[in-house]
Amino acid sequence: MRDHLYLFIFMLHFSTGCIVSNVQQTIEITGYTGGSVVLPCSCADPQSTATTFTWEFEHGNRWFQVLQNETYSGRSVLFNERSPANLSLLITDLRLNDQRYYRCKTEPNTVIYVQLKVKGCNLFGNREFAEVSGYSGESVVLPCSCTELLAKPEQIQWTYFIEKKHKEIYPNEQIESHKNRVKLLNPNTPGNLSLRISALTTEDQEIYQCYVSPQQVVAFRLTVLHAEEKPHVHIISLTTHQPSHQTQELPPPQQSHHTPQYVYILVTVFPIVLLLVFLALSSRYGKDEVAFSSVVYVKTSSTPAHAQNVPEYVNASAKQT
Ligand SMILES: *[C@@H]1O[C@H](CO)[C@@H](O)[C@H](O)[C@H]1NC(C)=O
Ligand SMILES: *[C@@H]1O[C@H](CO)[C@@H](O)[C@H](O)[C@H]1NC(C)=O
Ligand SMILES: *[C@@H]1O[C@H](CO)[C@@H](O)[C@H](O)[C@H]1NC(C)=O
Repeated sequence: MRDHLYLFIFMLHFSTGCIVSNVQQTIEITGYTGGSVVLPCSCADPQSTATTFTWEFEHGNRWFQVLQNETYSGRSVLFNERSPANLSLLITDLRLNDQRYYRCKTEPNTVIYVQLKVKGCNLFGNREFAEVSGYSGESVVLPCSCTELLAKPEQIQWTYFIEKKHKEIYPNEQIESHKNRVKLLNPNTPGNLSLRISALTTEDQEIYQCYVSPQQVVAFRLTVLHAEEKPHVHIISLTTHQPSHQTQELPPPQQSHHTPQYVYILVTVFPIVLLLVFLALSSRYGKDEVAFSSVVYVKTSSTPAHAQNVPEYVNASAKQT
């Protein structure tokens, strides 16, 4: 009888297999284009193994198997071979189209749903036109970045507008004049698309475009100035706190520029102020001296020896008031 009970329990355990955790709830996961995400799914009992399970994605009200679809080929990885209770799915090189519902189904019909959100690149100052200037012989940075720096645009192209046409200068250097002179400034940050153009010449004075998609474009008008036009004094303190599009070396800060004049004024004015203060004080002091002497007088006169003088003085002051 007992043996039968054990067998029954064993059968029950065996037939339940992997019960996934978080059943009946939709998990929301966010990823960035070019990045990767793990869609979580695991057996509640870490000792159990799922004999059969599938990952599916929704498309047009139908469900398709992720691992058998060309859309995810080379971009989807499972971990269950190493850890059998871990049925999570890793999707790499995310695309905007990956934003959809997914579900993890295990044998005795337990399902969990995952809503994947994919954030793409939205350019800062999208559809704007910026003015940038640099000095001939030096380099200039055309700033372009996604609002989400983790998002890698599915496409990035820098173009140069010449002869009424956009010619690519990055990643392919279509025009000879820009060969070896353009470089993405920060290749480690997926969403930072800023471009540096070095060894500027007046021929570079054109319109440039940072192109991510037909909806995501930022344009620049580059002005190339001659090195002689470089202002020597004024920019220094003004530009340090402002985002400058120019990378040319600024002359070392001349901190003492305004100081001599200031000191001069101070040196001239200070003695005058001092003199005025002295005069004011001395005249005041003179009055005080008078007041003091009268006090002394009062005091001395208030001594018992000259008691008779006191009424006279008091009367005199009483008359005055
Ligand atoms: C792959 O998914 C697409 C929808 O994105 C679907 O139209 C196609 O039939 C699927 N292919 C297979 C082999 O399931
Ligand atoms: C499953 O494996 C992946 C990759 O190692 C890991 O990121 C994830 O946290 C694991 N999930 C569980 C529930 O252990
Ligand atoms: C992009 O990278 C450059 C160089 O590292 C940096 O100066 C700039 O601030 C970055 N842009 C953004 C938006 O982070």
